[in-house]
Amino acid sequence: MTELSEPADVERTAVIGAGEMGRGIAAVQALAGREVVIQDLDTDQLDAALEHVEWSLGKSVEKGRLSEAEKEATLGRLSTADELADAVAGVDLVTEAIVEKQAVKESVFADLDEHAPDHAILASNTSGLNITRIAEATERPDRVLGTHWFNPPMLMELVEVVHTEHTDPAIADLAADFVEALGKTPIHCRKDVPSFVVNRCMRPYGEAAAWLVYYDEARKEAVDAAFEYDEEFPMGPFALADFTGGIQLRVDGEADHLADDRLLAYDTRVCPLLHELYEQGRYGRKAGAGYYEYDEEGQKAPV
Ligand code: NAI
Repeated sequence: MTELSEPADVERTAVIGAGEMGRGIAAVQALAGREVVIQDLDTDQLDAALEHVEWSLGKSVEKGRLSEAEKEATLGRLSTADELADAVAGVDLVTEAIVEKQAVKESVFADLDEHAPDHAILASNTSGLNITRIAEATERPDRVLGTHWFNPPMLMELVEVVHTEHTDPAIADLAADFVEALGKTPIHCRKDVPSFVVNRCMRPYGEAAAWLVYYDEARKEAVDAAFEYDEEFPMGPFALADFTGGIQLRVDGEADHLADDRLLAYDTRVCPLLHELYEQGRYGRKAGAGYYEYDEEGQKAPV
């Protein structure tokens, strides 16, 4: 296949990086009938990834969500490669899920560009680095975009499809349709802003919580319990950071995020929009309006 026009055309894929995210993304793609090659610099990670996927599919069989035959067929569609060039030969789509470092990702994308077929779409699973610059490391920036999965990929439904100014809108639509064909829900992030949408909004929770504990102003157990109270959040910021490996991701990406010249003042001070709402008396649900309108019972009015 050299022309990609619909998700079914994406038959062969590669996942670069066999860690927490890469192995899960590979499993989801193989479950959906794609031939997937996983590549990692660390061959132990490749073995661990295959073992993990087998274990995880086994759990699905135990729970009656998958038949033994489907499990075996899925495992049969997964293979590994030590070399990037071997992994991407003949693929239609590559998903990169390696370490969260801008320069390393740019260098890997230059290699992907050299070795992947010209028609292949190149997607990064970065949590928030500059995808525009990653795209500019290739000769096909129109076919580069972000597909930002959430952890664990087998269970989490949302995938942010991040466009850069170079991304061909037809390629972004195809990537979103592909994500949907995998059983996930794509959301288009039409601007490549630091941390995209979900992490951009969630990060301040984690940061504020960390400062509270750093200054001995609250216990982490209390902060987590506060978030989990009444199940408003499935887990508090500390439990979440531990679950996602957020501490490492944050430190790995920290210098890049801080050096990102797209970082705006609103990352560090109160958004002027809040001032506007305040001046209009839109204090929130109790006042009958905030970002949304509310009825007398405090129910959000239909938009
Ligand atoms: P991880 O540390 O579990 O796995 C990364 C893997 O990449 C390792 O196996 C490592 O050996 C391999 N690797 C590093 N450099 C490589 C290279 N040049 N070529 C091939 N393999 C290489 O990391 P994780 O958590 O899977 O994160 C991967 C990416 O996904 C990062 O960009 C991260 O920001 C993003 N992400 C992580 C989430 C999470 O909750 N952990 C959620 C969403 C995105």
